Amino acid sequence: MELITAIVLTLMLAVLIHFGFQAWKKRMLSKMMARHMKPGLFTLNEYEEYARKHLPRHIFSYFTDGAGDQSTMRRNKAAFNRYYLQQRVLTDIGTPDLSTTVLGNKVAIPLGFSPVLRKNWAWKKGDLCSAEAAGKHGICDVVPVYSESSMEEIAACNPQGLRWLQIYICKDESIMAALVRRAEAAGYKAIVVSIDCHWKRFVYSDWKNMIFKYLIKTSHGNFNGENFIKAYSQNVAERASWKSITRLTQMTKLPIVVKGVMSADDAVLAAQCGVKGVIVSNHGGRMMESLPASIEVLNEVVTAVRDKLEVYIDGGVRSGTDIIKALALGAKACFIGRPVLYGLCFKGEEGVSQILSLLREDLERVMLCTGCASVTGITPSVIRDRHAPRSSSNVDCKCFLSPASHE
Ligand SMILES: Cc1cc2nc3c(=O)[nH]c(=O)nc-3n(C[C@H](O)[C@H](O)[C@H](O)COP(=O)(O)O)c2cc1C
Repeated sequence: MELITAIVLTLMLAVLIHFGFQAWKKRMLSKMMARHMKPGLFTLNEYEEYARKHLPRHIFSYFTDGAGDQSTMRRNKAAFNRYYLQQRVLTDIGTPDLSTTVLGNKVAIPLGFSPVLRKNWAWKKGDLCSAEAAGKHGICDVVPVYSESSMEEIAACNPQGLRWLQIYICKDESIMAALVRRAEAAGYKAIVVSIDCHWKRFVYSDWKNMIFKYLIKTSHGNFNGENFIKAYSQNVAERASWKSITRLTQMTKLPIVVKGVMSADDAVLAAQCGVKGVIVSNHGGRMMESLPASIEVLNEVVTAVRDKLEVYIDGGVRSGTDIIKALALGAKACFIGRPVLYGLCFKGEEGVSQILSLLREDLERVMLCTGCASVTGITPSVIRDRHAPRSSSNVDCKCFLSPASHE
């Protein structure tokens, strides 16, 4: 009898030890995975795909679609493929320094958020969530004047962060001046004026989905809660000239950045008006079809105005590889639009943070592979233009040789 009890007890102990060990193994494994696996999805395309599956069709189309035959929108992304990266080996660099400055303010990565409205269609209080993510990651947040929350509410969410306010040229310049005063008081560090909006823009899906039905239900913090159609049509000038930009530069001590420049000629005019920066942008292909991609005109703009102002770019930037290519072509920083909406749709602030971590890690990896220890080290020699194969004579090798190897 005692023997049987002993056998049963031993068996029970063995079973207990077995299952205890299995549970411990499982816990350790999931801990290790949590440490080494990235939260969220793996590429920006996957976030877009998630948004496609989860957002109502009219919202996803509003976010994603481009004007006309959508050729500009598609080209923005595809044109980055014109450039290859120049791999470098045995460069003996540690963790690259990703920080840089924009208009004299330090940012953790050469990346910022383009102004994008309707963020609350992607996630409740989306503009506040994206402001928080921008603050956490130390990047520049360009806040659209037609955001759902007011510029003061957004500033309160990211009080220490770098914020620029994006406006349009107004019919009544006293309205523009009042917005600028508010931005100054709320600690915004620059005014971005978008100059590429056309009244007659045609996005097929917006008409098909009767998007105006939804736009009249929106409300805007900077315009006493007015709906978009009313707030936009009452305020934004249908016709304007560079004289308005000159007047804007005289209205404030804040630096002015012009968004929507797509040629060297316009960049030169912007510089003559006294602006401090231009964003090479075709509005993500939302205004016109058959335009070149932003990346295709970047270098001509940089060449024309590099001594006079800072040049930034948006349109189709989706990876660290894209960022390094733009910087190699002379951009001071890149901005992203739609990916912020897709990140919001995935998980609000956390989703946007995941997108920023992804881009940050990707840029760091690409800088290591191309031998760039810092953002200032990203020079044209980092890329090869498929259409113009480069000779190897312009490669600067000395910087990678350790002092010992010089001896
Ligand atoms: C849904 C949506 C709303 C936008 N709203 C604005 C805006 O209010 N002001 C502006 O200057 N640009 C606006 N843009 C354009 C972006 O600032 C930016 O130029 C463009 O999205 C960059 O391209 P990407 O989306 O490929 O990154 C908007 C873009 C999208 C997709």
